[in-house]
Amino acid sequence: MKLSMFIAGLLGFSTLLLHAQTKNTMNDIHSYANSHEAVITHLQLDLSVNFESKTLSGKAILSIKQKTKALSVVLDTRGLTIQKVTLNDSEKPAKFSLGEVHKIFGAPLTIQITPKTTSITVYYSTSPSAGALQWLEPSQTAGKEKPFLFTQSQAILARTWVPCMDGPGVRMTYSATIRTRPDLLAVMSAGNPTMKTPDGVYKFEMKQSIPSYLLALAVGDLEFRSLGNRSGVYAEPSMADKSAYEFVDLEKMISAAEELYGPYRWERYDLLVLPPSFPFGGMENPRLTFATPTILAGDRSLVALVAHELAHSWSGNLVTNATWNDFWLNEGFTVYFEQRIMEKIYGREYSEMLATLTLKDLNETIESLGATNPDTRLKLDLTNRDPDEGVTDIAYNKGYFFLRLCEETFGREPWDAFLKKYFNENAFTPMTTENFLEHLEKQFAIKQNLELAAKLTINAWVYAPGLPANCPQPSSNEFAKVSSQVESFLNGTQATQLETKGWTTHHWLYFLSKLPDSLRQEKVIELDYAFYFTRSGNSEILCEWFKRCIITNYETAFRPMQNYLMNVGRRKLVKPLYEQLAKTEAGKIWAKEVYAKARPGYHSVTYNTIDGILK
Ligand code: BES
Ligand code: ZN
Repeated sequence: MKLSMFIAGLLGFSTLLLHAQTKNTMNDIHSYANSHEAVITHLQLDLSVNFESKTLSGKAILSIKQKTKALSVVLDTRGLTIQKVTLNDSEKPAKFSLGEVHKIFGAPLTIQITPKTTSITVYYSTSPSAGALQWLEPSQTAGKEKPFLFTQSQAILARTWVPCMDGPGVRMTYSATIRTRPDLLAVMSAGNPTMKTPDGVYKFEMKQSIPSYLLALAVGDLEFRSLGNRSGVYAEPSMADKSAYEFVDLEKMISAAEELYGPYRWERYDLLVLPPSFPFGGMENPRLTFATPTILAGDRSLVALVAHELAHSWSGNLVTNATWNDFWLNEGFTVYFEQRIMEKIYGREYSEMLATLTLKDLNETIESLGATNPDTRLKLDLTNRDPDEGVTDIAYNKGYFFLRLCEETFGREPWDAFLKKYFNENAFTPMTTENFLEHLEKQFAIKQNLELAAKLTINAWVYAPGLPANCPQPSSNEFAKVSSQVESFLNGTQATQLETKGWTTHHWLYFLSKLPDSLRQEKVIELDYAFYFTRSGNSEILCEWFKRCIITNYETAFRPMQNYLMNVGRRKLVKPLYEQLAKTEAGKIWAKEVYAKARPGYHSVTYNTIDGILK
């Protein structure tokens, strides 16, 4: 460290850094990389996995393509210990320096190169607190016997385990050698093994180019179950059959997606079911979606999440948001695509239920952020902020409704034709919001058609806060029935007398969300006696239900809720509960007690959020 700082001083790197920060290709404000001068095209990893020290160590060989006569390559890093850097196959030692550490963005690694430099080898190890890595004790797994490791690179955490150009506007292919204990299987966002090897050494190759946020690795006691010709699921042995049951429709989903927007371009599509501390519902790591076990409801009712992650194989992984300010291009398109897949397989009524829930969540989010809040614009401004702050229902659900408005305005056929072409022509490239709007204009000539322009109000949707009045309104007959049952219940009909026959998870979610905050505790108890919500095995229903229990202080549910908070690490499911608890003095005290015990089991993504709520 001292030596590198000395070198940095000698070379006057601070000015170089400033330059790199302001002049990078896509103007990515969250990356130090100078990809406009020299860009990484291929990454070759060789890493050993050490569960005792909670570190990955080894080397990354980066192939670079020079664009200008650059004197240096600047990479993103955060918390990495750099042992040595060499140039080219000859491994000539290179001068390098680590810049000042920024809490969120990390430290730029500046490496001196010559016009002849074609590759850089960085010898390094990760820190035990690397944001992308979660090292699980055996007790945190289903099997309870073996440790587990998984990565989560999106949005800017790849730099905590790989020195790279960590912005979504840069793409590379990669290969990897991962060395671990022979009783564990390693899998990546690449071509994967289905069986353990005797020596614990695994080789991977990803031939399609990807941005760094899609780099992924998991190591654990995993088994593989085939689901079809090009799909399957990895899970811990005790979860494997349950997982295979839940995801039977996977091949159907892939075909439905292809019919909509063109061929699946990543060869295989497999799922990996992680232990419950995985902080997200799903993560679209190419060829191998990472998923929370909380979607294993036993009745296949939460598989829209798989459709979502699969859809990212087009929206996101093929056509990629150029910067995190354009995040809605990834998520809004994906929610739209997800619902089209669900409609194709399960029918319009089903997807309209999903859309209705999407609108409800969106309205709640806008209400809590405030309708004039700049963060309710589709095009975000995350300058000097953690891109994680952009992960709200705005990108997802406001994005969805804007695209649905496009569909309704242009008509489904022309709109689908446009999207298919859009994914095809822009495959493997970054996309800015402005560039997308140009594509739209080119196809539909909106500006010269006053009627069309007035119907779409593009600027209001993309650049203004709040929800425009022309937001499409989903309509669900099933939910209309649910609403009428809520009304009867509020008007005095006994819970046991309600007409709930045939209701699915979504009916119940809607039912629970429609209950007013003024509902009295005895009515909540009545519901529990009639429908056993507290004993539900469905993570989404439990979350909605526990919110209700907190509001009415229904004490019987608090112990099960504590269990839930201790066992589920998915941010979306625990955050609303801590938020609700934090609203009262007593609730906050209880929440802090539970959190003290639960926090060590949470991923950094989750505890960083909850820390903020309970501070
Ligand atoms: N790519 C996201 C997860 C993500 C976003 C991770 C931003 C880090 C930063 C993934 O596709 C996603 O949206 N997951 C959702 C599920 C979905 C059905 C809305 C989730 O995890 O809840
Ligand atoms: Zn997504």
